[in-house]
Amino acid sequence: MPGLEGPLDYSKEPPRHPCLQINAKEPFNAEPPRSLLVSSYVTPVDLFYKRNHGPIPIVEDLERYCFSISGLIKNPKKLFMKDIWMLPKYNVTATLQCAGNRRTAMSKTRKVKGVGWDVSALGNAVWGGAKLADVLELVGIPNLTSTTQSGGKHVEFVSVDKCKEENGGPYKASIPLSQATNPDADVLLAYEMNGETLNRDHGYPLRVVVPGIIGARSVKWIDSINIIAEECQGFFMQKDYKMFPPSVDWDNINWASRRPQMDFPVQSVICSLEDVNAIKPGKVDIASNVQPEKVEDIWNLRGILNTSWHRVQVRVGHSNM
Ligand code: MTE
Repeated sequence: MPGLEGPLDYSKEPPRHPCLQINAKEPFNAEPPRSLLVSSYVTPVDLFYKRNHGPIPIVEDLERYCFSISGLIKNPKKLFMKDIWMLPKYNVTATLQCAGNRRTAMSKTRKVKGVGWDVSALGNAVWGGAKLADVLELVGIPNLTSTTQSGGKHVEFVSVDKCKEENGGPYKASIPLSQATNPDADVLLAYEMNGETLNRDHGYPLRVVVPGIIGARSVKWIDSINIIAEECQGFFMQKDYKMFPPSVDWDNINWASRRPQMDFPVQSVICSLEDVNAIKPGKVDIASNVQPEKVEDIWNLRGILNTSWHRVQVRVGHSNM
């Protein structure tokens, strides 16, 4: 598409925060130190993890930038940024997390394939943009559609970045049409992050944000949107995560991760001045998935979805109360 280009090399990468821990240089993959990640509820843009599969695309001319919506629909269209800005703007606070987060912990069990992420390939941001449901209405797909008349059941997002893992082809991913056309699912075509224009690393000028599932679906630097019959065959395992159960109460989902606060009866340990304890989590999500205890039980070659208990050592010390 005009106005947006995917470079072949890494000579025009954007500047990055010096505190980021770099897990791969080209393509650039980096995460913040854990202490900085947890120091704020909304993650600052420059400290937000950066997950790329190729060189960062360049916007040559924002006025010329447009993307197409086509495929199994009657009225394909090209849309410009002005068409998106005209739609109602929504701010959605949502967590984005890479499926490879905590891969290094999984690789301790047995070697795995992929970028070695520690624990901070996630962040909370306030994403600003148009709802995908509203954008799809512009091409004649009403809200809450599961199948178009021509048999479209999924929405594929295609970018312009030239990805190593795709032999130089673009990054792509898809979500079900029923989710894309559900206004309460809050899927956005975002042009802002934390109130600022999207940063180049994070998808400028336009990216998808799909709250509630792995970050891989939140395609950056949108070039085209296709309505297709089957899930897109990108390089991300399509079936290896659970979608929301059919009965999900969309209205009451909170898309952002929280910083849990807990009270502990620490009086006894304070008496002994010093103790080291382990806090163990054990959560159940809205699809009734129970957090597995041991990483060994969920090991996989790609090292993804390490949702096992993350044990944190805490030191309870003496305070001069
Ligand atoms: N979109 C494009 N075009 N290219 C990519 O490499 N990476 C995906 C997704 N969207 C990617 C992409 C993955 S795996 C993740 S986890 C998120 O973007 C990361 O988004 P971020 O870099 O803004 O944190």
